Amino acid sequence: MVIDELKQNCIPQHVAVIMDGNGRWAELHGNDRIFGHRQGVDAVRSVVEGAGELGVKYLTLYAFSTENWDRPKDEVEALMALLINAIVQELDNLNDKQVKLLTIGDLSSLPADVQLKLAEAILRTSNNTGLHLIIALSYSGRWDILEAAKQIIHKVKIGDIVDDQLTESVFVNHLSTSGIPDPELLIRTSGEYRISNFLLWQIAYSEFYFTPILWPDFRKENLFEAIIDFQRRERRFGKTSEQIRS
Ligand code: IPE
Ligand code: IPE
Ligand code: MG
Repeated sequence: MVIDELKQNCIPQHVAVIMDGNGRWAELHGNDRIFGHRQGVDAVRSVVEGAGELGVKYLTLYAFSTENWDRPKDEVEALMALLINAIVQELDNLNDKQVKLLTIGDLSSLPADVQLKLAEAILRTSNNTGLHLIIALSYSGRWDILEAAKQIIHKVKIGDIVDDQLTESVFVNHLSTSGIPDPELLIRTSGEYRISNFLLWQIAYSEFYFTPILWPDFRKENLFEAIIDFQRRERRFGKTSEQIRS
């Protein structure tokens, strides 16, 4: 079993995933892109379950980027409808597993019914004490950094922050991920080697894991494989290998 190879004392606290390849999966199966997105929900369920089993504290899933608004209208509408369905259908399951739902991104740009269902689900899982499941929706890393900058400018204007108090930790507190540790591991499926405007600030020292598996085929065993790979790495944070080992 893959899970037996995992070192339990070295599980990342935060895993982030760029869930990519739904469209290509659908095409391979002779179906339309929406079919691929629908199948992607099974992968989400499995990965959430796997992360919970390992004791991962935060799982951030990139579900819809700022740039994804430029997709055909039909696809965007189908994705929004799918999102509502998935939330409604999975809510009991999330509560059973003690999963606490959170979101990052420009939620105000989402349709009103999606905003409402999300707020409801966030509230109904707010007392759960297990995995934090963070869904990135209408999210981009540049948006996140720009929003933080805007908030800080406002606070400087009203005198809540003076210029020389603007440290890295103050800045971090204004990002959408405030209070959440940076991901130690970032996974991208579907064989693409890019970040696509995901957590730009937060992945400064993340380990990257790229897999050719298309998202609808990804399961918790694949998450375990990614974590095993992560556990074999030496994270040096600018230091030398010798410094790290001593
Ligand atoms: C990821 O799959 C899902 C979203 C971006 C919403 P894609 O829809 O990007 O699938 P491909 O990359 O076209 O195969
Ligand atoms: C990144 O996937 C966004 C999500 C997974 C939500 P895309 O499929 O949109 O990325 P690009 O456009 O290929 O870089
Ligand atoms: Mg894609």
